[in-house]
Amino acid sequence: MRYLIAANWKMNKTVAESIDYIEIFKDLVKEVEGVEIMIAPSFTALSSVSILLEKTNISLGAQNMFYVERGAYTGEISPIMLTELNVKYVILGHSERRHIFGEKDELINKKVLTAVEFGLRPILCVGETLEERELGKTMNVVERQIRAGIAGLEREISLIDIAYEPVWAIGTGVNATVEQAQEVHHFIRNLINDISKGNDKDTRILYGGSVNEKNASELIKAPDVEGFLVGTASLDPQKFYKIILSSL
Ligand code: G3H
Repeated sequence: MRYLIAANWKMNKTVAESIDYIEIFKDLVKEVEGVEIMIAPSFTALSSVSILLEKTNISLGAQNMFYVERGAYTGEISPIMLTELNVKYVILGHSERRHIFGEKDELINKKVLTAVEFGLRPILCVGETLEERELGKTMNVVERQIRAGIAGLEREISLIDIAYEPVWAIGTGVNATVEQAQEVHHFIRNLINDISKGNDKDTRILYGGSVNEKNASELIKAPDVEGFLVGTASLDPQKFYKIILSSL
């Protein structure tokens, strides 16, 4: 399994800024082998970034998607709009979608199923809030989000990746410790192995939450951490490159 090091730029970077970044970044990583690199820019920059990523070792991702091919859904993005631009990955169920935009497990599951149907590879994000962790509910929350998110895909779980992103670690500068990450990743690995009856070997479990160029080399040592979903630190091409080097 090749680890996946993914950048989620969130609502950052104009088209011009995205182009400047990619011009620098694609040269930095051109010799990198052994891990898969993905960048998920804003929707407005997807088309320009897609052209720049042709014939590179960087995959393109989207930050969200709706579950219908076309129709009267003002403001939404359909799977065929993504596949047309050679998008390979789609981040679904991110905690910002869940908590700011009110996305529920049922909606996220529809998106996951549709993404797979259209040949996109979902990165299903799961993770507990600080309150849930303090109440000892971390594993319950993660299990509920995974079971609901992949419902209908139990035997085909190898078509998706999962990102464990504790909400308290996202954008806070407080990353999970290696032990905290490993504990939950190990739980997820056992869970998906059980749900899929052993068909989970191509599913990577990424860690996300204040990953940076300083903590990446420690976090990647956890045996069940198989890549990263990086927000803030991915906005700087040099920092993201260092995270990738730490993961090799
Ligand atoms: O999708 C990425 C995560 O939300 C992590 O964001 O690296 O800024 O904490 P962060």
